Amino acid sequence: MNVRSMTVDDIASAMRLAAVVHLPEWSAQNYVNEIANPAAYFLVAEGAREPERADTARESVVIGMAGAHIVADEIEVLIIAVHPDHQHTGMGTRLLSQLLSEAAARGARNAWLDVRERNEPASRLYLRHGFQIVHRRKRYYKDGEDALIMSLTLA
Ligand SMILES: CC(C)(COP(=O)(O)OP(=O)(O)OC[C@H]1O[C@@H](n2cnc3c(N)ncnc32)[C@H](O)[C@@H]1OP(=O)(O)O)[C@@H](O)C(=O)NCCC(=O)NCCS
Repeated sequence: MNVRSMTVDDIASAMRLAAVVHLPEWSAQNYVNEIANPAAYFLVAEGAREPERADTARESVVIGMAGAHIVADEIEVLIIAVHPDHQHTGMGTRLLSQLLSEAAARGARNAWLDVRERNEPASRLYLRHGFQIVHRRKRYYKDGEDALIMSLTLA
């Protein structure tokens, strides 16, 4: 699995992944802004898609991604997503670990995020990394679901 920083060439593929896993819709411009933002740290995991025609090359495709803002001593995890065909292989764990270790390397001491209370796969991933639920925001999301605010002190 090749994990690297997101570039503008990944945006179309990242948007397809976001749609498949039902992330809140971000425009291409949102991704462009994040890639240009020095406080943002966005990663992609690359896979290969078989070509539709035999005489064309295999195309690289985003099968996982994660993004955060790292500001002063804090990292806010914004997104993490793995294509359903590649879930349960440790990719989410690897992406989150990489976000947190980059944050620690940049001097962050605290991590936080919000997660839908019924998003069990994501909550389990965060709890496994040592995040703890510190707050509940009632009806935080447009559809009325509560947000759990999770926090982690980085070593
Ligand atoms: C949350 C999400 C990123 C997790 O990604 P993932 O790649 O499946 O995560 P992992 O593979 O690291 O861990 C998932 C589970 O697989 C298990 N696992 C990891 N490697 C494994 C392997 N080789 N074989 C079997 N199981 C494995 C983990 O122990 C974990 O189990 P648990 O959920 O019971 O604790 C993914 O479910 C997703 O994209 N969800 C939709 C998007 C979303 O809601 N994102 C969060 C809000 S932005």
